[in-house]
Amino acid sequence: MVHENSVLAGVEEYSMAVSKKVRGFISQSSWIRKMFEEGARLKKQYGAENIFDFSIGNPSVAPPPEFREVLRKVAGDDISGVHGYMSNAGYLETREAVAAFLRREHSVPLGADHVIMTCGAAGALNVICKVLLEPGDEVLIPTPCFMEYRIYVDNANGIATFVKSNADFSLNLDSIRDLITERTKIVLINSPNNPTGKVYDGASIRGLAELLEDKEKAYGRDIYLVSDEPYREIVYDGVTVPSILSTYRNSMIASSYSKSLSLAGERIGYLAVNPAVSDIEEVMSGLILCNRTLGFVNAPALMQRVIAKIQGITVDVAEYRRKRELLCDGLSSIGYGFTRPDGTFYLFPRTPMADDIEFVKALTKRRILTVPGTGFGWPGHFRIAFCVDDATIVNSMKGFEEVFKECLQ
Ligand SMILES: Cc1ncc(COP(=O)(O)O)c(C=O)c1O
Repeated sequence: MVHENSVLAGVEEYSMAVSKKVRGFISQSSWIRKMFEEGARLKKQYGAENIFDFSIGNPSVAPPPEFREVLRKVAGDDISGVHGYMSNAGYLETREAVAAFLRREHSVPLGADHVIMTCGAAGALNVICKVLLEPGDEVLIPTPCFMEYRIYVDNANGIATFVKSNADFSLNLDSIRDLITERTKIVLINSPNNPTGKVYDGASIRGLAELLEDKEKAYGRDIYLVSDEPYREIVYDGVTVPSILSTYRNSMIASSYSKSLSLAGERIGYLAVNPAVSDIEEVMSGLILCNRTLGFVNAPALMQRVIAKIQGITVDVAEYRRKRELLCDGLSSIGYGFTRPDGTFYLFPRTPMADDIEFVKALTKRRILTVPGTGFGWPGHFRIAFCVDDATIVNSMKGFEEVFKECLQ
């Protein structure tokens, strides 16, 4: 609370309602959200059509027609108790449908009892951290990465430790090996990756699994491989995402329909646990309890009923592929350097000047909103979320070119 006109004005500690820790998080807060808010301000000032907003991964491709059809039907069903509480893990019918889909995808004998419906992948990750971490346990996270992870880990009194990936954004297994300690409880990967679009290949996932098995033996304790996969279905050029469930025993997936069905605001996702994890029954009980007590209680009922009927259906990924080509071709002809993403709707080019924050500010002056690589633990780059309409991409090129040329002067 701010007491500008009261006797408490200037008495910082006394007047602060918000804890020091949360104040710290606010001040270092997500660059994605900062740029998104800046976009909202500029849109008000100049009109939305004059702002090139690439700041946030809010899917632009419409949910598929099957989603709308099923939603209409399910919303009209007159079933007693349909709006009430349910088992905290979610409806059995939904978990069975998700498990059947995951069995096909991962070739692992996973059943409804190994799936919990969650409020998005973010909800799933918070639940997993809460259940697995003792205070002070470490979560090792390859960068560049989605920085909200740091707060999810802190929510469970864990410590996030970051490990740099290779220059091509593949996993640096040597660095991961070096940074695992006797306190490492989780290695958290995200593939396809936000912000790079990188998909970790089968060899690196197998290599990671082997090194984690060695470390489990060396330290005599379980180390969990958690894969955050909300972009799994958004991949290009025949790339497939290797299955961690079929590669490593102590593994779990956090996922959602935020991106694959463009339902980010509906908060529907799931977590799936490898049936072979140690103490599976107790782990599942803990996850179900924490889904409730972290305040989610259960994933939204209506969405659970819808997604049960459209497993395997996704948005039209060809639309994102077209946008990727439009953006990559435009930027490379200007001279920007980048690796074409395997998946997601993000591009992570190198900034043509060393200071990525200054570079992003220069783009903002041309009303182009992007996110500095610093916000993903990877300076010298910037992220473009290309889940926007084609006109935004095409019309932004002039500004991208002007700033690029300014940097060369
Ligand atoms: C890598 C990553 N993980 C998790 C999330 C959260 O997604 P959800 O909407 O499924 O909670 C996001 C959202 O953008 C993300 O990019």
